[in-house]
Amino acid sequence: MVRNILKFGDETLRKQCKPMQKYDLRLWLLLRDMADTMYKAEGVGLAAPQVGILRRVVVIDVGDEHGLIELINPEIIATEGEQEGSEGCLSAPGRRGYVKRPNKVTVKAQDRKGKPFEITGEGLLARAFCHEIDHLNGVLYSDVEEYEITDDEEEQ
Ligand code: CO
Repeated sequence: MVRNILKFGDETLRKQCKPMQKYDLRLWLLLRDMADTMYKAEGVGLAAPQVGILRRVVVIDVGDEHGLIELINPEIIATEGEQEGSEGCLSAPGRRGYVKRPNKVTVKAQDRKGKPFEITGEGLLARAFCHEIDHLNGVLYSDVEEYEITDDEEEQ
C-alpha cells in the first residue's frame, strides 16, 4: 500500500527515531508499504519518518545488483573517500541539492527477522545510506555542509 510522503517543513521529519525491537508482521507490512511508496514515487530510498513512522527503518534500491535493501536499526560503521554531487529527497519534490558525502560507506543493520548483517556501498549507494540514515536522526540533506540548492526542471 502506497503511503503519503511527508514534505519538508513537517515537524515529524525533525524527530529522532526509536530503534525497532520487534521483527513481526507489523514491521513487514511497514517494509512492504515503504517499498511500494518508494517505487511509486520513483525514488532510490525512503526512511520510515517520511511516512510518519518514528522508527529506525530504511528501504533503498538504487537499481544495482543489490535490488531492494531493507535496513533495520542501521548504523554507519566505516566511511572512505569523498564524492560531490547532486541529491534529491522524496520529501522535497522538484528540488536537488549539491551535497558532499563519503564515496564508500559500510553499514551495520538487522534484516527483517532481526539477523545482523553488514553491507558496503560505493557512489550512489553510499550516498543513499548517508541520506536515509540521516533521516532517522531528523537530519535533512539541506542541513549538510556544502549544500547548494538548484532547481530541477525535469521534476517540476
Ligand atoms: Co530523503
